[in-house]
Amino acid sequence: MDKVTFSVFRGHPDESGSPIGEMKEYTVDLDEGMVVLDVIHRIQAEEAPDLACRWNCKAGKCGSCSAEVNGKPRLMCMTRMDDIKEEMGDYEGPVDIRPMQSFPLVRDLVTDTSWAYEVDRKIKPINGPEDPDWVFNQHEADRIQEFRSCIECMLCVNTCHVMREHQKFDEFAGPRFFVRLASLEMHPLDTENRIPEIKDDFGISYCNITRCCTEVCPAGIQITDNALIPLKERVVTEYFDPLVNPIKAVGNLTSGVLSYFSEEFVQTADPGNNKQATTAQDAERARIEEAKKLESERTERARERFRSD
Ligand code: SF4
Ligand code: SF4
Ligand code: FES
Repeated sequence: MDKVTFSVFRGHPDESGSPIGEMKEYTVDLDEGMVVLDVIHRIQAEEAPDLACRWNCKAGKCGSCSAEVNGKPRLMCMTRMDDIKEEMGDYEGPVDIRPMQSFPLVRDLVTDTSWAYEVDRKIKPINGPEDPDWVFNQHEADRIQEFRSCIECMLCVNTCHVMREHQKFDEFAGPRFFVRLASLEMHPLDTENRIPEIKDDFGISYCNITRCCTEVCPAGIQITDNALIPLKERVVTEYFDPLVNPIKAVGNLTSGVLSYFSEEFVQTADPGNNKQATTAQDAERARIEEAKKLESERTERARERFRSD
């Protein structure tokens, strides 16, 4: 029978909220097909019944069992021990299991992610037609479909350096909520404008497109390419594009359109980056044209429905 040793963080916050504790080693039997969460459950059953860990579905659907396994943020229920062994190769040391490091500790592997509810509450809900029978084409739905697969595991937020290193929880909505904002902003029937909040309250300019959030997303959402960059483009169009809004654009250009795409834009402002920003604006203009086309198709469909009633 194979054995496995886990080194698990055991601790709690002190009076100031800082985590205090230690790494404790547990060795248990390893059965074929086990995932990391199975090993944690075996440790709870055989060695440490007071080890705190959050989980619910054991199927990668509830987003509860987020932790850092060998330094990488992952869902414990979806992380196979076979893969961990392969990653570790010849290294025989224990598997390192810690709670998410960006969120306040509750106990052991459990963190307090209630910040997410606060941010969620600040986002304006969908504002579509009053008629409950919403109709739109599948190709209009396709664009936002991937955002709906978010399981709110917060692994992306835990990984983002804006949160992890700079603790901008009050000024930056974090990748998970830009995914939510994108799903609303790109909804074919939504009429709300959240761009001012995305720029000022949710601080999208802090994101410098490092893509770390995308790399850890267990739902495979292309957070950076499909949510963050299009939202940045919309902010640029609304505030910096002289063709769309001449007065606002002239006033804002001095404050740095390029900062919406990368820190490097601000630091070097090289011609290559300028070209990239122009390309982004062109892409957004094409998107606006496409949206107008879809809008007129929708209007035409509504007229036809009206005529046939
Ligand atoms: S791409 Fe933006 S949101 Fe994602 S990890 Fe990097 S800075 Fe954070
Ligand atoms: S976007 Fe991905 S990583 Fe972020 S909370 Fe949703 S599922 Fe988790
Ligand atoms: S227990 Fe639900 S995602 Fe892991």
